[in-house]
Amino acid sequence: MRIVLGVGGGIAAYKVASLLRLFTEAGHDVTVIPTEAATRFVGVATWEALSGNPVSNSVFDDVPLVNHVRLGHEADLIVVAPATADLLARAATGQANDLLTNTLLMARGPVLFAPAMHTEMWQHAATQANVETLRSRGVTVLEPASGRLTGSDSGPGRLPEPEAIFDAALALADGLRDAGTGESEGIFPLAGRTVTISAGGTREPLDPVRFLGNRSSGKQGVALAAAARDAGATVRLVAAHMEVPAPAGVELIEVETALQLREAMLSAAAGSDVVIMAAAVADFRPADVSGTKIKKRDDHTDPVITLVRNPDILHELVAVRDDAGTSQLVVGFAAETGDAHGDVLEYAEAKLKRKGCDLLVVNHVGADKVFGQDHNSVVILSRGGAEPQSASGSKHDVAAVVIDRISAELSRVFPRT
Ligand code: C5P
Repeated sequence: MRIVLGVGGGIAAYKVASLLRLFTEAGHDVTVIPTEAATRFVGVATWEALSGNPVSNSVFDDVPLVNHVRLGHEADLIVVAPATADLLARAATGQANDLLTNTLLMARGPVLFAPAMHTEMWQHAATQANVETLRSRGVTVLEPASGRLTGSDSGPGRLPEPEAIFDAALALADGLRDAGTGESEGIFPLAGRTVTISAGGTREPLDPVRFLGNRSSGKQGVALAAAARDAGATVRLVAAHMEVPAPAGVELIEVETALQLREAMLSAAAGSDVVIMAAAVADFRPADVSGTKIKKRDDHTDPVITLVRNPDILHELVAVRDDAGTSQLVVGFAAETGDAHGDVLEYAEAKLKRKGCDLLVVNHVGADKVFGQDHNSVVILSRGGAEPQSASGSKHDVAAVVIDRISAELSRVFPRT
């Protein structure tokens, strides 16, 4: 395999010499591209000697070879370690001011970043936003390890061990699909698994211009799809109307109505290991859809709209799964409000039983809560009767907890054979 190893300007660059060794000893052809700053920590001679290939960091070296185009195009895999805050920022904003960033823009294969920096820099909103941007484009950004940093400080920010980066890189290059065993399982717990997720809100047409819809933005479903993808899964996203774009690297199936969503989910769920119903599905649809725009009438009588019930897709997915006896985890969402007769959790427990799904992610809704917001607060209920698990934060934080829980549940209930 042809690997480009980008090296950022951090002290952890010295550890990347061992990573390079692991790649070459496994028979891979590695071209190292250090940044200017990286060569202050480890010199070009070291990279050339260990890789057996010439090393440059300038687009003006070997111009006839057009290296800034060729290296990215030819690479089966690009690994960047240590990925400094500066390098993540430059990659996220698509800059092309040295050979490594040019190469990243030309990449056609998988790209993996292994960050290393001080905890404050890693946790800074700017760095986190850059990481999120890269992940949303399908780039794998590993979490840094925790522990002793360069000075007297310690915390998250250490470069993951060379062996861990090596395992993650090879799992990624294998297309993540058949890599869900051994070491890589810790980093990609859903490798080799297929996850189908519905997101957004359905729209039920009344006439050619009007519909009955709901306030769902699709943000939580999209965050779940991105988190499942980052955990190594093959993701199918069945999207009803969404206000946010689908993440890169997932199969997108667009639908409009509840009946279309039902069709798409039943077909995508076949062969999936996990099915998540995060979409807000209209419970009712107009009994008749007018072929022409409904007009105001001269006699001042107003139209009456008769509604009919839509099928409960989640319930049906569970029934299909049970009939077929497949090893599939079905996860529902519930937006609940409490009232004089019961609190949110009581209603949610009843819903979990009624729907028959394995996990139910419950959020407490009100006029200003959940729909369209960037933050969410949920409780995960399990059919197995485990203690309810709470999670709150951004919809991405909540998605990470839900996907973690699903991964754990999956390996417990349906371990890999
Ligand atoms: O019954 P309720 O709408 O509260 O249930 C919410 C859960 O059921 C969500 O997972 C939602 O996607 C799903 N649902 C469904 N079909 C419907 C209504 C809701 O699958 N017709």
